[in-house]
Amino acid sequence: MIKGQMSLGDLVAFNGFLWMLNGPMRMSGWLINDAQRFIASSFKIRDMLKAESKIPLHAEKLPHTIEGYVEFQNVSFHFEDDPTTDILKNISFQVKPGQTLAILGETGSGKSTLVNLICRFYDPTSGQVKIDGVDAKKWQARELRQHIATVMQDIFLFSDTIEGNIAFGAPDASMEDIRRMARIADADHFIETMPESYDTIVGERGVGLSGGQKQRISLARALLKQPSILILDDTTSAVDMETEVKIQEELKKVTHQMTTFIIAHRISSVKDADEILILSHGEIIERGNHEELLEKQGYYYEIYHKQLGTEVDHNG
Ligand SMILES: Nc1ncnc2c1ncn2[C@@H]1O[C@H](COP(=O)(O)OP(=O)(O)OP(=O)(O)O)[C@@H](O)[C@H]1O
Ligand SMILES: [Mg+2]
Repeated sequence: MIKGQMSLGDLVAFNGFLWMLNGPMRMSGWLINDAQRFIASSFKIRDMLKAESKIPLHAEKLPHTIEGYVEFQNVSFHFEDDPTTDILKNISFQVKPGQTLAILGETGSGKSTLVNLICRFYDPTSGQVKIDGVDAKKWQARELRQHIATVMQDIFLFSDTIEGNIAFGAPDASMEDIRRMARIADADHFIETMPESYDTIVGERGVGLSGGQKQRISLARALLKQPSILILDDTTSAVDMETEVKIQEELKKVTHQMTTFIIAHRISSVKDADEILILSHGEIIERGNHEELLEKQGYYYEIYHKQLGTEVDHNG
């Protein structure tokens, strides 16, 4: 019609085709957008996979096994982002293979930071952490951690079966060993009552577990690894006192070959340790074994009496 070159039918068809193009055009917009996001994300993922740990890895290989002798020599530590605040100040101690060191102290006093130096999540700002007499910095963090099992304060379970979660650090473990460790951690009983026992899926996409149940599963996981050094950071804080005492009794039977670090709040968990450190604002304010600390009549003595309740206050 316009200049007589297009019929009405042509115009309608042309209009129709234009509309048909609309969908694919918009689609290609999305596709380009998605492709760009894919490219950007894959670069980020590649960078993350390639990232080197801030802690330098050294070439020296660890001996095949370690004895578990742990020594701190005047260790101080501050975080990079806050160099003026010493989180740990001049910490020194020695723990022989098979011994237990307990750490007590109010929240924020530096307990977790201290044990994190042993597996080289951080390195000291000054002083030395020695393992089997060698500066821990000489060893690859990854190798060192094969000999250390840590039950962290913030427990992480994988979306996997209970069995898979316990066997995480020891993929060749037998079912018999898995059950034995679960019994020591007092987890066997509640696991048996779960819908599919050890095959029950837990974690983010599975059955929800209580804090105390998670703690016991990760304790079993740590024990199964049969480490030279075992670190328990507040591991039994979420279980009741009676269960905690039971777990501690069972633990003693298997930890005599491991150097054990126990961070706890209840005296019942620390009283049998070879040495107990009391931390306050990153400093050791008291140290000794249970009897020595009671004699000092200081911080430890006070908590002991608070925890025993009024009963002991009356009886002396
Ligand atoms: N990544 C970090 N960066 C900066 N400061 C930190 C970091 N992690 C911990 N801190 C600080 O270090 C101090 C000691 O923390 P840490 O977790 O060692 O205490 P804690 O004794 O384990 O306490 P809790 O009993 O609550 O577990 C706290 O003041 C805390 O705020
Ligand atoms: Mg802590």
